[in-house]
This record gives sequence, C-alpha cells and structure tokens, in this order.
Amino acid sequence: MGILQILEPIRDEMGLVEAKLRQPLPQEHSSLTATIEHLLCSGGKRIRPALALLASRFYPTDVDKIVSLAAAVEMLHTATLVHDDLIDGALFRRGAPTLNSSWTPSMTILTGDYLFARAAFLAAETDNVQVMRIFSQTLMTICTGELEQQIEKASRDAESYYRRIYAKTAALLMAATEGAAVLSGASQGQVEALKEYGHQLGMAFQIVDDVLDFVSDKNTLGKPVGSDLAQGLVTLPTLYYLKQNPGGNSVSAVLDKSAHGPQAIAHAVNAIRQSGAIDEAMSKAQEFVQRSQQALARLPAGAAKESLHTLAEFVVQRKT
Ligand code: IPE
Ligand code: IPE
Ligand code: MG
Ligand code: MG
Repeated sequence: MGILQILEPIRDEMGLVEAKLRQPLPQEHSSLTATIEHLLCSGGKRIRPALALLASRFYPTDVDKIVSLAAAVEMLHTATLVHDDLIDGALFRRGAPTLNSSWTPSMTILTGDYLFARAAFLAAETDNVQVMRIFSQTLMTICTGELEQQIEKASRDAESYYRRIYAKTAALLMAATEGAAVLSGASQGQVEALKEYGHQLGMAFQIVDDVLDFVSDKNTLGKPVGSDLAQGLVTLPTLYYLKQNPGGNSVSAVLDKSAHGPQAIAHAVNAIRQSGAIDEAMSKAQEFVQRSQQALARLPAGAAKESLHTLAEFVVQRKT
C-alpha cells in the first residue's frame, strides 16, 4: 500500500484541510499571509492532519469540525517548526530557506507566535472544550520538551532521550488522534486506543527523524543533515554508538568539545553512519511501530484501521 492508497479514505477532507490552512483571515497583515503561504506551499508530509482525519473515521463525525482540528494540528506543527529552526539555527526546511535564514529573530518569533494563535483559533472552531484542553496541554508539553532539550541535550541517559522525544514530537501526534477520537464521540476505550496509537507512532516517528539526520542527505530530506551532532544533541543513534564504543572516539570528542569544526563533525557522523547503531535505532523504531499497531486491535475493522496500520509502517520506511 503506497501513501496515496493510505490516504484514499480521507482524500476529500485532506483537500478541505489544505484550503482551510491557506485561507487568510480578514484583517491579516499581508506579509503574514504571504509568509504562511510560503511555509505551507513548500511542502510537508501532512502526517498529523492525516492522523486526525483517519482517527475520526470510526464514527460519523461533523466534517467541518474534524477539518478544523486537522488544520489546527498542522498549523501548530508549522508554528513549532518556525521557532525550532530559529532555536536550532537551521537555514533550510522543506527544501526552502527558513524564515530565520533571512529575517531577524524578532520577526521570526512574532511570526511563530502568530501561527500559534492561528492554530488555537482553528482548534476553537471545534467548539469542544475537551479538544481545546488537549490542544493547550500539548503545546505546554512541546515547549517543555524543547526546553528540556536545551538543558539536557548532551545527556547520555536513554530515559532523558525518550522523555524529550515524547514531549517534542509524540505528544502532538497523540493529540491529533486523541482529539479526533474525542470529537467523533468514540467510547472511552476507543479514545484510549487511538491515543496510544498516536503516542507510540510519534515515538517511532522521531527516532526515524533522528536516524535520517545521520543517513540521509540535504536534497532528499529538504533540511540539513548531521545537525543534531553538530549542535551537541545526543539522539538514539549516538546513544547506541557510545554504548558500543565506550572509550574515547571521534563521537565522544565532538560531544566533549575536544574536537570541533566541520571536519571533526563529518568524521563523527560518518563513524555513526557506518556503525551498527543505525540498525539498532531502526529496530527500536520498529518496536514502537508494532506497539502502535497493537493499540489498533481494540478498534473496529475497516478502511481507516487498515490505513492507520499501514501508515505506521510508512513512518519507518520513509526517506523524507
Ligand atoms: C519535522 O516533522 C519535525 C519533527 C517532529 C521531526 P515532519 O517530518 O512531519 O515535517 P514535515 O511537516 O513533513 O515538513
Ligand atoms: C523538532 O525536532 C520538534 C519540534 C518542532 C517541536 P527536530 O529539531 O529534530 O526536528 P527537525 O529535524 O528540525 O525537523
Ligand atoms: Mg530542528
Ligand atoms: Mg531532527
């Protein structure tokens, strides 16, 4: 099953989400409208809105409301990327220059803030307080995750890594599926099942992102590679590498800052890329994928369930 087939049950709604994302608000400053258009038209896999739409498919749901939720989740994601690239000093995303590559930090921060507000505005269109609560709690969790990453980036503790990737990434995928289940009036057990699916899938998703940062290239990925290690950020491939190579080596030298500069970083990235750490990290991602698929067992059979099952596999096979 290819991605088009996975998304087939929600094809029409995905079009509505896209239109909603791009619809400028009355009185919006023209520079903001142009920026939002630029951010959205440069691409993005739209995994999060797809998850929301598929998770709503188990019960008849008000289409307008679920489209608003799906758009809210993607807008929130876009806002976090604007701030994340400023924080990470990343100059390239979705194959295009980032806002922070040409703008001042103040302009970038304000645009990100506007996108956060626009996301909340979209979430409010659901008229559902529980969904708004999930939405705001998720944003608090993401901020906490990004903060923890600043403080603990060099931590070699696996617990710290898993806590951070839950907060910065898995929480939003979980909010997409949980919010959609709540909106569609699913039973408590089914809300829990879809929430669990989004959580486990989100963990796999970030592990794969961390692997791609080592094994991919800028053209394929549309964003810089090798950047985690260059920033001194320890992710799962690095954790496994250090476990397999406990003595002094090119990777620990970069992390300890006894080696620096582009050459030392390229050498360390290469060492990890050629080690067993990549396969080990991918097996871990696969474990999370299986857990996400197991969570689906509690849901009724049908096209939506099949799509969610296959989407989980797509997350580990993806190249971008
Ligand atoms: C990038 O997310 C940020 C992470 C949480 C890893 P995606 O890989 O979903 O980015 P787009 O939306 O497809 O560009
Ligand atoms: C991004 O994580 C998480 C959030 C935006 C909250 P990364 O920093 O790994 O994402 P990329 O690699 O820049 O897309
Ligand atoms: Mg980043
Ligand atoms: Mg990354």
